[in-house]
Amino acid sequence: MEFGWKQFILLSFLNVVILIEAINLKIATDRAVQIVSDKYLSIAIDTGIIRHNWERLNFSSPKVQSLARALSPCYLRVGGSEADFMRFSTDTHNVRFYNQSDLYMSDYYDNKFVNFTMFSNQWDELNHFVTKVGWNLIFDLNSLLRENGQWLPDNAKLLMDYTSQKGYKITGWELGNEPNSYKHHVGYSISGSQRAKDYSKLHSLLNQYPQWRNSVIIGPSTTQLSKTSAEKYFTEFLQTGGPDIVTNPTFHHYYINGREATIDQFMDIDILNGLMPEINKANEIAKHPPYGKTWLGETGSAYGGGAPGLSDTYVAGFM
Ligand SMILES: *[C@@H]1O[C@H](CO)[C@@H](O)[C@H](O)[C@H]1NC(C)=O
Ligand SMILES: *[C@@H]1O[C@H](CO)[C@@H](O)[C@H](O)[C@H]1NC(C)=O
Ligand SMILES: *[C@@H]1O[C@H](CO)[C@@H](O)[C@H](O)[C@H]1NC(C)=O
Repeated sequence: MEFGWKQFILLSFLNVVILIEAINLKIATDRAVQIVSDKYLSIAIDTGIIRHNWERLNFSSPKVQSLARALSPCYLRVGGSEADFMRFSTDTHNVRFYNQSDLYMSDYYDNKFVNFTMFSNQWDELNHFVTKVGWNLIFDLNSLLRENGQWLPDNAKLLMDYTSQKGYKITGWELGNEPNSYKHHVGYSISGSQRAKDYSKLHSLLNQYPQWRNSVIIGPSTTQLSKTSAEKYFTEFLQTGGPDIVTNPTFHHYYINGREATIDQFMDIDILNGLMPEINKANEIAKHPPYGKTWLGETGSAYGGGAPGLSDTYVAGFM
């Protein structure tokens, strides 16, 4: 069918009429639907980037610093699967790991995590950066350093002693990552009630440092809360630990698998709607009060480091 110019104008005219009739917005500026923290828009960086010596994140770049400063006030959470494979050392070491062709994402895909060391100079660099740009650091500690089923806080203490000596201000702490997936990632499980006991130990440790007694503490960092097993884990952790175990209960959400992601998925209404039921579920289990407000402790469009060519484009904005 061909449109003559008269029909086109008629259609345009109808469009205008429809638009005028349809758009009738009332914005009630006298009341807020939700009030979010001034740090609501915050950032997470995967611990794996430390193993790669802050690869692709140049802390001394003026451009990076300007962009980062514009995001403050915010939290920077450094954590993730590899937090459970990291040990701190007070040694300094000029780490030279920088292999452009070796994408760090491959660590996730292969599910092969290796223990590694964060040297004090790498920790210094991070702390100097967050101080410079005004970010509030939340750091995820290795929870797999264990003995007889209990968390061993020695290495965390070493890090805290060093940090305390240096006078670095740490805003918050976390212990482990996505423990409901340990069976898959680590090869054995740690129950929600045991994880609560691990957090009690973290509290005892932090109590030795006056500056961190009232730290932000986040956890249990469960993932896929839509699954019954994850819901049980989250519930067991909070019920064992009680409302004081964490200042903010956390869960993680990813919409899709980065490796298999398609552009259609990024615009799929059902997938986009996937987060809301998890938020509702978390808020139902961890009622505020008595629990602190629930946080989305780590999220992104696609897990496994994102979907190359999609997660870093406009279409990911919908998620
Ligand atoms: C990081 O940024 C600084 C300052 O712009 C620059 O001199 C240095 O070469 C950069 N390092 C890398 C590895 O790109
Ligand atoms: C860098 O990574 C590539 C691909 O994984 C590998 O073939 C190469 O040997 C690596 N180079 C170094 C210096 O590790
Ligand atoms: C990594 O460290 C943990 C804790 O010390 C240990 O149980 C585990 O066997 C180590 N893994 C590897 C692959 O060396």
